[in-house]
Amino acid sequence: MTISTRSVGIAMAGLMLAIAVLSLVHPWGEMRNGADAKAELLQGSTATVPLRATLERGCGNCHSERTQWPAYSRVAPVSWLVEHDVHEGREHMNLSRWQQYSNDERIDLLSRIVTQLRQAKMPPKPYLLMHAEARLSAEEQEQLRAWARAERSRLKAQSSK
Ligand code: HEC
Repeated sequence: MTISTRSVGIAMAGLMLAIAVLSLVHPWGEMRNGADAKAELLQGSTATVPLRATLERGCGNCHSERTQWPAYSRVAPVSWLVEHDVHEGREHMNLSRWQQYSNDERIDLLSRIVTQLRQAKMPPKPYLLMHAEARLSAEEQEQLRAWARAERSRLKAQSSK
């Protein structure tokens, strides 16, 4: 059997069509529509404007509804990997919905933020390869940890009243 240019052309067209169709599939739900992209992060907390900006830069793509979707994130199968991260990230901690967490949930999340930063687990290493801007300096990490501890103490004092 010889492979003609024509059959290669047909195969390529078929592949491109398949990718186009698969890119319409969102296994974890359509996350781009309806997301509350305007809402500021960490509403109802004591986080200062610069601190919110740091969190948005380092964590916001996965842990908020202000996700910036790069062009490559629209094409399957990469779209599924990116959407899975965003889905999981928001499930664990959605900074756009901070006000909807109970006091105890916030206290727990603040402890987890401290742990993740101390263990250098977040932002995830593979993500940093693609997003140099998300790398937080030692000083920024320290500010974030100090704030998370202070906010946790404040909320604990509040709930024991
Ligand atoms: C590329 C997407 C992505 C970015 C960016 C990211 N995270 Fe995450 N994060 C995840 C995913 C996915 C999970 C859930 C699975 C896991 O724990 O690996 C998670 C889990 C967490 C958890 C919960 C861990 C636990 O104890 O259950 C915390 C807290 C967290 N991230 C904090 C942060 C902080 C703080 C930043 C920014 C400095 C950040 N993340 C940046 C994707 C991300």
